[in-house]
Amino acid sequence: MAKACGKIILFGEHAVVYSRPGIAMPVKNLYTEVKAYKSDCFSYCVDRVLDEEEKEKLTKLIEFVFLELNLKDNIHLHVESSLPISLGLGSSASLAVALIRELTEFFFLGLEKKEINNLSFKCEKIFHGKPSGIDNTVINYEKPLYYDGGKKTEFLKIKKPIFFVVASTGKKPETKKVVSELNEKYNSDKKKYNRIFDEISDITEKAKKALEDSDIVLIGELMNKNHKLLKEIEVSSPKLDLFCEFALQNGAYGAKMSGAGKGGNMIAVTDKENKDKLINALCTLSDQVFEIEVKT
Ligand code: MEV
Repeated sequence: MAKACGKIILFGEHAVVYSRPGIAMPVKNLYTEVKAYKSDCFSYCVDRVLDEEEKEKLTKLIEFVFLELNLKDNIHLHVESSLPISLGLGSSASLAVALIRELTEFFFLGLEKKEINNLSFKCEKIFHGKPSGIDNTVINYEKPLYYDGGKKTEFLKIKKPIFFVVASTGKKPETKKVVSELNEKYNSDKKKYNRIFDEISDITEKAKKALEDSDIVLIGELMNKNHKLLKEIEVSSPKLDLFCEFALQNGAYGAKMSGAGKGGNMIAVTDKENKDKLINALCTLSDQVFEIEVKT
């Protein structure tokens, strides 16, 4: 049986698609599990009810991975996941990584981490069209990650624990659609969007150091600034803006939307003293609130 965790983007979403850096963290308490069994015919089962689109995507993913790995044997696959589908926590990348890991073990393929990462990136392209690769990379390596289009991937060293609280809006972010709508706007006014992506890039660079110094006041300020710019490129939503405001009034040092946006999650940074107050407050708005403690 193979497992893969979830992820959350902390800085630089969208800008990372345009070769700017991004920062993401693994979410280790939520994961996908895949187990392969010998079988006479090919089949799979999943621990939840999938709609037609999700079924189609899963079949396409399995077929694609089998083709890429040149696998011909019939097997039965059992998929279990504690990750909500399409809520911006990397369910698709997590599924791809868990599947490839399990097939690697089951068929003794001996694939290295880097090869698994490359193949899961190809899988992401099936789901998202033009992914940056940050989701599959953070899930594959399971460490807080500074990602620069694969050119300068670095793992962050965070000395003192930092507490984040995540609240889901309950609305699927539709990554592919949001990314392609933004691409249309980008193509019609490259000057404007490159300026914004450069500003986000500057924030991400500063955030890298602030995270390594565990400077939560600065991390908070940078998250607020990043959110403002994400609002400017119209990938936020009234609900995400409200969640951010509410988090700031209830013990957060900073808050922003996370991931593709127009739904998905808000993430806020806090400290040990304010963490429970923030969680309780956000629970009045969202039925999916959880904390992440980051330390490496
Ligand atoms: C999605 O988790 C993050 C985006 O930046 C898309 C990507 O990087 O592929 C919106």
